[in-house]
Amino acid sequence: MYPPVFLLVLSMLIILSGIFYAISLPKGFPCNIPVIPFWRHTLDVAKGMSRADLYNTRIREPIEKHGAVARWHEGRWTILVTKPEFLVQIFKESRGPLTRQGFYHRVPGGYTAQFFGENIIDSDGDLHNVFVKLLRPGILRPVNITRMREMSQLLVQKLLRDQQAVFASGIGCHIGSQVWHWAVDVFGEFFLDTQMDDLDYSQTAVQKILGARNQSFIGRFRDHFPVIEQLPYTFDISKRTRARLNKLEDTIVGHAERRLQKGPPLPGDENKLIFLLNRARKSGLISDFHYRSNLNQLFVAGHENVETTLVAAMLELATRPDLQDRLFVEVSENLPIDYVPDDLDKLPLLSAVIYETLRLYPPLGTLTNRRTTEPFSLGPDILIPPGTFMGWHAYGVHTDPQLWGANAREFDPDRWGTDSRAVHSMFRSQQVTGRYIPFSLHSRRCLGVTFALTQLRVVLCELVRRLEWELSPDHVFAFSKIVLDVRDMFLGFT
Ligand code: HEM
Repeated sequence: MYPPVFLLVLSMLIILSGIFYAISLPKGFPCNIPVIPFWRHTLDVAKGMSRADLYNTRIREPIEKHGAVARWHEGRWTILVTKPEFLVQIFKESRGPLTRQGFYHRVPGGYTAQFFGENIIDSDGDLHNVFVKLLRPGILRPVNITRMREMSQLLVQKLLRDQQAVFASGIGCHIGSQVWHWAVDVFGEFFLDTQMDDLDYSQTAVQKILGARNQSFIGRFRDHFPVIEQLPYTFDISKRTRARLNKLEDTIVGHAERRLQKGPPLPGDENKLIFLLNRARKSGLISDFHYRSNLNQLFVAGHENVETTLVAAMLELATRPDLQDRLFVEVSENLPIDYVPDDLDKLPLLSAVIYETLRLYPPLGTLTNRRTTEPFSLGPDILIPPGTFMGWHAYGVHTDPQLWGANAREFDPDRWGTDSRAVHSMFRSQQVTGRYIPFSLHSRRCLGVTFALTQLRVVLCELVRRLEWELSPDHVFAFSKIVLDVRDMFLGFT
């Protein structure tokens, strides 16, 4: 019989070697790129550092030198890329040696996998082809700009009303909830043909749900060690997050079902997303699971990225009254009262402000959702074994001084040019060359780009036409802990 102390030490050794093995670089992993040390990275995650701060303190220096680094992400070693040539290579390889892996396959069984399921953004191959063919006409429908303008004017009124309510206090009003409601309402009306104005910001906003999760130590670790979700014991924070996402799903699907029960679409609205999805479900082209997955994913993708971009643009404009004045002059002198999308394209500063906001605050700041299926050579020298996850850091690419100059981290819309032609041409060329990737690139580029840019142009025109704003004296800048956006901003309007 062995003494108990011996058995205890032996078990500890076995556990420790298991952990050591699990966190060692896998066999065949490229050794000619820097590695972000596991323990340091883990400590930073434990401290609750934002993604931008993590990038700036640990990743920026080695990745700007080598174009790629190895880092621990979602329970495995992955390769993170920022060199434009590498990015173009990855985005072009949407089939073949690189496949797309969404939450559903990356973190199976997790609450995000359950919520997002298999959808147009996360799927690959034939399934993705089916989704694109089905949903593209709904996302690329012509935009009813009059209605979009009315909804933006409503946002202006609500912000002014909120400001009047706190007028005596001398502080600004919280814009997060109103901007979120505006983005959700636009999505609801344009894509689901329904009014979603009864949704509750504090309960329903995905970033609020994940933000609450990240308040907890275990919640923060969940993306670092997804195995937490597979343990026989479920932590309270996981239960709460799952319950809140389930409730959100019920809310989204409930809205869609109630709209479908109300009757057929009005003439001209047959291709709204909700009707396309419903017809495909009824005909058996897609399953009920794929119907729900797409509804959930498109609800999030269709409002949240626009919302965070607008909040960031308003923040930058709040610190730059001169820019607000220039925008006001551009809009009031050049935009007809009954403007159409083409008129918006002719306002260079307006577009430059939006492009610059997406550069410094890309809503999807970093993504790691490609997996090699066979040996893959990144550039001529970095040989990556099959089964490796690869990702990119849009914030890193957009703030690399080698690509954007010494003032890469400053908000400078004038870098895009002074006339519409120059601004739009730079927008295109920077994307094709992999230097500007807020919407990703090539075959998996965002399908909602035109819609999102139109929505942002309209709302900024309506805001600068009617309001001036500045930062509330008590505002403290902080990157959100989850995405590269700015939250909880207080602004003073006049
Ligand atoms: C500022 C706003 C937006 C930004 C920054 C943005 C960004 C992105 C990015 C980076 C991707 C690629 C994701 C990945 O590779 O995993 C993407 C894909 C996609 N986005 Fe957007 N998006 C925005 C607005 C929208 C809107 C309003 C819609 C409309 C519903 C939309 C629909 C889609 C779809 C369907 C895809 C998948 C395309 C495919 O893989 O075939 N997006 N978006």
